[in-house]
This record gives sequence, structure tokens and C-alpha cells, in this order.
Amino acid sequence: MPGERDKATTVLSMVGLPARGKTYIGRRVARYLSWLGHPTRVFNVGSYRRRQIGASQPADFFAPTNKEGRQVLHDLAMTALDDMLAWLREGGEVGIFDATNSTKERRRLVEERCRKEGLPVVFIESFCNDPGVIEANVRDTKLKSPDYVDMDPDAAAQDFLRRIAHYESMYETLDDPNQSYIKIIDVGRQVILNRIHGYLPARLAPLLIDLHVSPRPIWLTRHGQSDYNRHGRIGGDPELSPAGEEYAKHLAEFVRKNAPRDQEVAVWTSTLRRTIHTATKITRSPRTWRALDEIDAGVCDGMTYDQVRIEMPDVWAARSADKFRYRYPRGESYEDVIQRLDPVIIQLERQRSPTLVIAHQAVLRAIYAYLMDRPPGECPSISVPLHTVIQLTPTAYGCEEKRFALPPYVEDQGAGG
Ligand code: F6P
Repeated sequence: MPGERDKATTVLSMVGLPARGKTYIGRRVARYLSWLGHPTRVFNVGSYRRRQIGASQPADFFAPTNKEGRQVLHDLAMTALDDMLAWLREGGEVGIFDATNSTKERRRLVEERCRKEGLPVVFIESFCNDPGVIEANVRDTKLKSPDYVDMDPDAAAQDFLRRIAHYESMYETLDDPNQSYIKIIDVGRQVILNRIHGYLPARLAPLLIDLHVSPRPIWLTRHGQSDYNRHGRIGGDPELSPAGEEYAKHLAEFVRKNAPRDQEVAVWTSTLRRTIHTATKITRSPRTWRALDEIDAGVCDGMTYDQVRIEMPDVWAARSADKFRYRYPRGESYEDVIQRLDPVIIQLERQRSPTLVIAHQAVLRAIYAYLMDRPPGECPSISVPLHTVIQLTPTAYGCEEKRFALPPYVEDQGAGG
């Protein structure tokens, strides 16, 4: 099957005290790997605890002296681990074991169980003693968690800090030279890679080095209407239509109105004229990325959809049957587009100021799928209309979306579903 690649079944096991962003990191890694085509799932032991023994356990439940409590927590972790191993046996590729895994003994156990199944384990530790980061994490995620629903926020924060203290008293950081691990210190100030081998774990390093949650908008828009868009032609390097020129002005106005005052907006385009020209009212020197060029329609470049349907019925039928995997003869598939967008995504994650991405339908579908955690196979049917800005603002566990339709309204001839 085109595009099918070897599986690299792997266990990623989180390590860290409560409120160090383990779940955030785990989910981010899962989103990234799933998008790149590696089926990934997070097994969060906290959710098992809430489901099986109820959410509201007081801090002392987690105390090392509470033998009964520790046993319950251990059993829950092992249940989650077993579920993860079963899921991997059934065809999953990357399992993320999201628990504190805060002692060497626990980590040895995780390794032992995985080794029995022939699975490599990479530990990912978030080590952080910066009170600002911990406080922000407690405020933004923990106090909103079901563990503290309906509880006074100050009392909840006190209780959570006591819970952290219990874990601190038993915590052992990663330092075994024989283990495979990535240790992230103070949210990327320092990142240590130990015995990281192979394609998949190595691919995580660029992502993990720059993870942050600075709130900033990411604006995605297609170029203004082009001459090809007017006639439903695909690909090419056409100029903007008069309506497309008009959109470029409205887009510039939108950016001026909505950009936070003290921040510069990064403007990214493809290397094609229609995106660069859409940016000209905002900047004369956008960052042009070849990786943002539209899906390469190969032998169909420049044709209308009707021409393809009539003159190349085999191409039409095959693409309609599996639009995600179908690779145009001498061109690309959506799957190919995702792979080449990887560096764009890594750079987008690094950005701390607003970023405007002016690109094309297929490419923006792929970027949107990543940011909104949509299964990659759904890419080809995501709606990305002309003359619309999609504003995505990263939050703790996802992105908030708003769409702004800007004038002039144009009929979309090529909004292939
Ligand atoms: O129609 C505009 C366009 O950007 C084409 O250049 C491109 O081939 C197409 O959209 C991608 O959309 P779909 O995959 O639905 O054909």
C-alpha cells in the first residue's frame, strides 16, 4: 500500500511530580505522533483513579505512610499499564503511560513488564522546581480538574500542594545511565537525552525542546482568490484575481486590528505568488516556506476538477476512494504533505508571538488537523474556505478556534470535500 511504513512500537513513560506538565507533554506528543501517522494513545492513571475510586481523594490519601492508599494507586497504575500493553498488542504503535512514575522501583517495574512484550521504553521526565511554573500549572489545570470540582480555590490549592509534598518525599529523578530517557529541565531550559536511539524517539527531541504555553494567536488563511480559483483549476502559480487583491487589503486590516500591540506578527507564506501577494499589504518580506506550497497535483496540475474526472477517470476514482493516501501521478498525497510540513509545525510550536500563515487549501487542512488534534485521515474533508481567517489560540490541552469571514465574498470553485 502506498505510504505504508514500518511500525516502531514504543512505550513512552512519563516521569515527574504532580503539576509538572506531564499530561500536557504526553498529549502534545500524542497529537504530534498521531498526526505523523503513528497511532498513539495516552493512558492517564489519574483518570483511572477518578473512574474507579472517585475524584475527591484528600491529599493524605497520597501520603507514603498511607499503605492502603499506595497499594490502590499501584494497582490502578498496573491496570492502566496492562490496558496500554493490550492496546499495543492490538495494533497501536506508541503507548504513553502518563503517571508520576516517581520512584526507581516503579520505573523498573514498567520496564520489566514492557520488556516481556519486547517493547522498548523511553522515559520522559519533566523536572521543574520553578515556583512560577508550578503555580501556573496548578491554577490553569489542576484547580479545574474533577479532583477539585466545587471546592474553594484556596483550599484546593493548599490540598494540592500537600499532595505534591507527599510525592516529593519519595521522588527520585532519572539518572540511570542504562535507561533511555529524555529529561526536560525547567520547561526546556535544559534537555538531556540519554540513550535515545531510533527514528521515533529522536523525532521527539525538537518538539520537546521548545514546548511552551505562551498564549498567542495562530492565524491560518488561504491566499486571496486566484485566477485559477475562479475557474476551478488546481495547482499552478497564478496571480490573484481582483477579488483576491481586495481580500489582501481586508486581511491586512484584520491583522492590524487584532495583533496585540506590543508584539510583532510573524508572516509566513509559501513560495507561490498568490500567497506572497496576499501578504504584501502586511509585509514586503514574509518568511517564504517551500514546505507551505500547495499539494503537488503532478500530471493534473493546471486542470479543472471536471477535466480530471472526464479525461483521467482512473485518477479521479482512485483519489475519490482514498483521498488521504492517494498520490497524484508524479505528485503528492495528503500523507506526503504532512511529512513535509513537520519542520513548519516544529517552528510554529516555537513561536511566542502571533503567526499568520498564508498558504493553500490542502496544506492548511494538514496544519489545522495537527493543531486541532483531528485524525490525519480526516484532513481532506476539513473546511478551509477562501477569504476566511481561522484563528487558533493554543490553550493548556488544545486550541480555541474562531473563524472570521472577510470581504469580499467569493464562490469557492475548488472546495473539494
Ligand atoms: O482548488 C484550490 C486548491 O488549492 C488546489 O490547488 C489544490 O489541488 C486543491 O485546492 C486541494 O484540495 P483537494 O485536495 O480537495 O483537491
